[in-house]
Amino acid sequence: MSEARLPEKGRNQEDILRELRAIAAQEDARWETGQISGSYYHAGKEHFGFLNQVYGLFSHVNILQRDVCPSGTKFEGEIVAMTARMLHGDAVKAPDEVVGVVTSGGSESIMLPMLAYREQARAAGIAAPEMIAPATAHPAFDKGAWYFGVKLVRVPVGADLLADVDAMRAQINANTVALVGSAGNYPYGLIDPLERLSSLAVERGIGMHVDGCYGGFMLPWLERLGYPIPPFDFRLPGVTSMSCDTHKWGYGPKGASVVLYRNRALRRRQYFTVSNWAGGLYASPTLAGSRSEGISAATWAAMVSLGEEGYLETARQIMAVADAIKAGAAAIPEIRIAGEPTFCIAFLSNSDKVDICHVNDYLTSKGWRMNGLQSPPGFHFCITRPQTVPGLAGKFLADLREAVAYAKTPPTEPSKSGAIYGGGLASVPPAMIAQFMCDHLDGMYAV
Ligand SMILES: Cc1ncc(COP(=O)(O)O)c(C=O)c1O
Repeated sequence: MSEARLPEKGRNQEDILRELRAIAAQEDARWETGQISGSYYHAGKEHFGFLNQVYGLFSHVNILQRDVCPSGTKFEGEIVAMTARMLHGDAVKAPDEVVGVVTSGGSESIMLPMLAYREQARAAGIAAPEMIAPATAHPAFDKGAWYFGVKLVRVPVGADLLADVDAMRAQINANTVALVGSAGNYPYGLIDPLERLSSLAVERGIGMHVDGCYGGFMLPWLERLGYPIPPFDFRLPGVTSMSCDTHKWGYGPKGASVVLYRNRALRRRQYFTVSNWAGGLYASPTLAGSRSEGISAATWAAMVSLGEEGYLETARQIMAVADAIKAGAAAIPEIRIAGEPTFCIAFLSNSDKVDICHVNDYLTSKGWRMNGLQSPPGFHFCITRPQTVPGLAGKFLADLREAVAYAKTPPTEPSKSGAIYGGGLASVPPAMIAQFMCDHLDGMYAV
């Protein structure tokens, strides 16, 4: 039932629930097959049923008002502390100390440190601060640059698709406040050369943000499982801030993430206070004002109910699928996997006889939803828990082999994915693409 204005009389609750259950069941059926890349970081219906109970206890509570909900400090303080410990905050010695805040998601956990670095720079007399990021770093860095007036210098990645440290070094100037690296990045799931970036940051006396939104809740467990993961966290002396999403592989509800800082002074830079407002003193640590405590309570509950054992076991299951897919795909000569990924696998063309976009088109026709990549064209398959359904890797590989065969003798028309990715956009003026995307966003509020 579509509602373009408030119903005159409230609707029957059972009726509403019936309608919503039907919608939810239909939409869940799509990702429960495991045929969707990333997007759903679902740790099972039982786990989320439990989180929903926890959410219900605190959904109505405004976590900004800590005098009436001191439990908010318990939840968020412990979420930050557990995340900091997981990312080796204990390697940092006094007077530094890893601290952080809970945010609404990865984007906010990236944007807020940009604000903090800007404020730190201004205090040091730098009026036009700049940050340097590899081309693969998430668009949230561009968003933060736009919101907070920081210049983001994007540097092309090397042939290995990793941050080009020498090229980044060449961009450092007196206005540079921080470097950016990803652990791992969204397009290819690859971990940038963070040790080298860290050394560079230390050498030049600037900050360094590691975007661990993707890897923050996976890489610690992969290390323990014996995968060769280079240091990516606060063990590196140059790392001054990190973003890490509880609402991805942390298996908490959507709407939460953590940003960590190497010291309290840097965290202070993102705080907002007004002391002379008619409504009294106002202070908020993050972008939002009022927030539901339910999200933080459920995030805390997710973390303590899974524990290290739960995260390790889920990581093991995810990697069993990812490893099977990587091994099977390596035997298909016409395509190649970008770099040496862990759980997010990007497929690129290895032959001018195969347009990777045609491969993606075929997979789409078989019910798969991959994430399209451009420059170079490709797509990635990010493995989360829903992909651990039995038989998924085998089914994907069988369809991938068929997809490559299809792409060798494709229908004459250009590939559908190629119309969007893979250079298809290169000939369209950027303003026109922006217009198209904004029209799309308008459409998200259509009734
Ligand atoms: C590497 C990386 N960083 C940041 C983000 C942004 O996270 P969010 O969508 O929660 O804002 C994402 C999202 O996929 C990501 O993959």
